[in-house]
Amino acid sequence: MTRPASERPEEVKELAGEGRLITVTVDKPAHGGTFVARHDGRVVFVRGACPGETVVAELLPDSSTNARFWRAETIEVIEAGPDRVPSAWPESGYEGIGGADYAHIRIEAQRRIKTEVLQELMTRARIATYPIEDIQIEPARDDHTGLGWRSRVRFSVDHGKVGMRGWRSHEIHAVGSNPLAHPSIQSLGIGVWTAPNGVVAVDVAAPSGSAPVMIVRAEKELSLEDLNLPAGSEKASVVLTTRSSTTILRGDDTVREIVGDDVYTLYAGGFWQVHIDAPRLLTAAVGDALEAHEGERVWDLYGGAGLFSVPAARAVGTQGELVSVEGAERASADAAANLAAYPQAEAVAADVRDFLAEASEGPDRVIMDPPRAGVGEKAMARLTELTRKRMVYVSCEPSTLARDLRIAEQEGWAISDFQVFDLYPHTHHMECVVKLERAAR
Ligand SMILES: C[S@@+](CC[C@H](N)C(=O)[O-])C[C@H]1O[C@@H](n2cnc3c(N)ncnc32)[C@H](O)[C@@H]1O
Repeated sequence: MTRPASERPEEVKELAGEGRLITVTVDKPAHGGTFVARHDGRVVFVRGACPGETVVAELLPDSSTNARFWRAETIEVIEAGPDRVPSAWPESGYEGIGGADYAHIRIEAQRRIKTEVLQELMTRARIATYPIEDIQIEPARDDHTGLGWRSRVRFSVDHGKVGMRGWRSHEIHAVGSNPLAHPSIQSLGIGVWTAPNGVVAVDVAAPSGSAPVMIVRAEKELSLEDLNLPAGSEKASVVLTTRSSTTILRGDDTVREIVGDDVYTLYAGGFWQVHIDAPRLLTAAVGDALEAHEGERVWDLYGGAGLFSVPAARAVGTQGELVSVEGAERASADAAANLAAYPQAEAVAADVRDFLAEASEGPDRVIMDPPRAGVGEKAMARLTELTRKRMVYVSCEPSTLARDLRIAEQEGWAISDFQVFDLYPHTHHMECVVKLERAAR
């Protein structure tokens, strides 16, 4: 039941007058952070709702009469569902920032919902070699709140205003304390800084083994004095990047990351797993799934700065061979330096597709950790041909993972283990580690 018209907030009355509001009861979660509802027989993907609840939602501008489905955003909750809690990050609510689309959902329910979404994607892809009901998400160690986990954060800047972009606008929203960020990022005070003209973004890295680094992206050269950085950021290194140059204004442009007994050094703006517990958790999961032996040949594709390459190089020993393939030149150079103690390891700076096209002899085992687009049909098919024993697929995008796993199954491979980790709490994202072996014939 909708509230009486007289009791509704002004903006709701206005939108209702324009015919842009619908009242719906939401059902199953959809991939991408929304929930499915039906309105006059049409499917509507609703953001900001929880399963089972009735909400008033604003239709997005692309929800035209001819559209196959509509998209809408919750503006008012009429009947809250059992999973709803006060938002962990209120700035992500109606017309707010992106990047925390589950913040209004109980953390245990977020995990149940992610499991449901993942199982649905695998069912739709017709994954046949693994019991889909056994795929269940696990939290990171001791992560009961899902807060303070981000070791990397991008702040957007517009005319001096620092914050984050809205999920459906380019407008900058103040982000308060950004509760998902690691405390050492929160304490830099960037959220309350007024940046000088010319600054367009700030990328912050809070590594586990060295001081934070701020990479200030600007349209013109600026000095440290020009930046007038907030109190609290004195200990952070500062790097200024413009279209034509990169200048270290204070400290260093590299970070050190500690994972068990290994220390990795990499460019502060390069890729690193964002959740503070992800490097430990994923190296353990990948190592267990890979089970590389001395003397074997292993490829680590999309290897970044060598997070998975270092333990794999150790596992194959000096009689074996480890090749780390990474497309970004600087990350590949970092991988080479991180692998310097292992003569059996080589870091190749190349596009994985080119590397596979040129490879004549395949590996015993392969790790692949592609960006969201996944490995893709051609490269996946080639890997199923070239790899002798085992493939370990690490993925942050379950829809492309499902597509690629299906290809592997069609080429005669079987999934023998499927792990999922909640490494992006309060968002709809998740991280999967899948073990594939040649199917018994
Ligand atoms: C998800 S990250 C994984 C990095 C690394 N495995 C880690 O966990 O730190 C994906 C990496 O793939 C690289 N990359 C993206 N597309 C690529 C391509 N076509 N060929 C080679 N590397 C690529 C990116 O630069 C990035 O470092």
